Amino acid sequence: MERTLSIIKPDGVQKNVIGEVVKRFETEGIKIAAMKMIQLSKIQAQGFYEVHKERPFFDSLTDFMTSGPIVVMVLEGDDVIARNRKLMGATNFKDAEEGTIRKDYATDIEKNVVHGSDAPETAAFEIAYFFNGLEIQNR
Ligand code: CMP
Repeated sequence: MERTLSIIKPDGVQKNVIGEVVKRFETEGIKIAAMKMIQLSKIQAQGFYEVHKERPFFDSLTDFMTSGPIVVMVLEGDDVIARNRKLMGATNFKDAEEGTIRKDYATDIEKNVVHGSDAPETAAFEIAYFFNGLEIQNR
């Protein structure tokens, strides 16, 4: 059993696809172990994307991530980090496979609807960034 962090980004919330994204997880048998809607401050967004702080898109990305509410979720299941990444599709929607969330809803490499942790270490950091132990259910 594995856990990962999923975020429906401000563009996904704006496009009214929260339910659509959640349905794709549940249809695959992935369980939601925690979920909340919040709006990040600039400092909170910078902390979350700390690994990208030297990248040219860092300022734009952290502005975008504070531009509206986001939905953060802990997903649980076997091999869920890789399964979530497969459901999301490539970071750039132009490279994403047919039927993936980003292929269907993303409009931009930055405004790509969802985020998902890419490895067990990043999942642990990202989950703890948003949730304490009492807020996560064992499903
Ligand atoms: P995410 O999976 O959340 O990880 C970093 C984010 O930076 C990425 O999705 C995009 O939203 C954003 N981003 C913007 N430009 C780029 C880029 N050129 N390469 C990778 N990520 C980018």
